[in-house]
Amino acid sequence: MNRVKTGIFGFDELIGGGFPELSSILLSGSPGTGKTIFSLQYIYNGAKDYNEGGIFVSLGEGVEQLKANAKLLGIDLDSVSDKVKIIAPNLDNLGEFMKKIKESANEIKPKRMVIDSLTTAEIYAPSLVSVKGLEFMEVLDGLPVFTPPILGEAITRRAIDKLIRELKKIGCTSIFTSELFKASDSLSRDTVSEFLVDGVIILKRVLIGDKAQRVLVIEKMRSTKQDENVHKFDITSEGIIVK
Ligand SMILES: Nc1ncnc2c1ncn2[C@@H]1O[C@H](COP(=O)(O)OP(=O)(O)O)[C@@H](O)[C@H]1O
Ligand SMILES: [Mg+2]
Repeated sequence: MNRVKTGIFGFDELIGGGFPELSSILLSGSPGTGKTIFSLQYIYNGAKDYNEGGIFVSLGEGVEQLKANAKLLGIDLDSVSDKVKIIAPNLDNLGEFMKKIKESANEIKPKRMVIDSLTTAEIYAPSLVSVKGLEFMEVLDGLPVFTPPILGEAITRRAIDKLIRELKKIGCTSIFTSELFKASDSLSRDTVSEFLVDGVIILKRVLIGDKAQRVLVIEKMRSTKQDENVHKFDITSEGIIVK
């Protein structure tokens, strides 16, 4: 199987050489745990070291802010502008969102994709599926069996599932970042995407004595021997270093 290397120091060997090609990976963590930096390195290293095109969809930071932050970590996105596209779409619905991604994909034929964050992308889901949701009820003969939370989960599931399938169709190995509450028992903010993706990585800060330490855990990685360890990492001026 082909592996897509992140090029992040110390990371690829934890997952058998890289992400399985065409897989979808959920990268979850509370704010400040390094999700955006990890994702930026994945896209940048792909272009610089493996000659692979990438699209970074930034739904939080604007393009210029993202580039400036990246530069502080030695990531010069302008130097790979022929292979990397950063977009920060401001859209109404998932259909438009996908259209924008496909337009960019036609330009650079990406092998890598980042959606930062899936939590924000999901804001688009309800407006797309509220109509479909009603159809869904009608198909079931209007049986009033759906309580709002269940319907909500079904909508989110469908939207995420569609997104995952579309990105695979484009030929991408994708990272979706997800916000996570510090005390959450789930692996994602939406509590369903961890079941739909091929891999899940959790980034955390834990207290060891009176010192905070960054750690990562690989919760799931399809087609890969499960790594059971908790791995310490640092964020340095050269990016993420897994110990
Ligand atoms: N040059 C740097 N050196 C060390 N740590 C840094 C540097 N730049 C950013 N960081 C750390 O990275 C964190 C932000 O990472 P980021 O990927 O934006 O987090 P997230 O996307 O998970 O919210 C900051 O909290 C900061 O501690
Ligand atoms: Mg971020």
